[in-house]
Amino acid sequence: MALKRELIIIKPDGVRRGLIGEVIKRIEQKGLKILKLKMLKMSRECVERLYDVHKGKPFYESLINFMTSHPVVAILVEGDEAIDVVRTMIGPTDGRKAPPGTIRGDFSTSIQENIVHAADSEERADYESRIVFDPACDELS
Ligand code: CMP
Repeated sequence: MALKRELIIIKPDGVRRGLIGEVIKRIEQKGLKILKLKMLKMSRECVERLYDVHKGKPFYESLINFMTSHPVVAILVEGDEAIDVVRTMIGPTDGRKAPPGTIRGDFSTSIQENIVHAADSEERADYESRIVFDPACDELS
């Protein structure tokens, strides 16, 4: 057993569309343990840190504007191989291509507004958690 931690963010579209409960239900149903959970409105600076690897890409500015447009919900989970488990549950980035049964496949037809974000490694989960659970990153606090 390889117990790992994964960071999930319900994006502005997921929150606006009333899908917080649906995403949390799926996390719990799967058997993942929720360690931390927080609603926040991310500052531009913190979203830029979160998406540092995408800086310079054509969709970067639009992504930053989208992620700062509305509150998000950050969820830290723990479970056996949680990174792989969560990434399988959410499906590929493009909601139009994500298979039914995945969160993106069931609720998104967009590549940008794809309901959830999940870190792609343990290192990134730790890095991104530090950002979203930092009170300084939350314009609501
Ligand atoms: P996410 O898994 O959060 O990682 C980076 C995000 O950038 C991605 O989900 C999408 O929201 C967005 N994204 C990735 N590729 C594109 C693209 N080609 N066009 C627009 N947005 C994108």
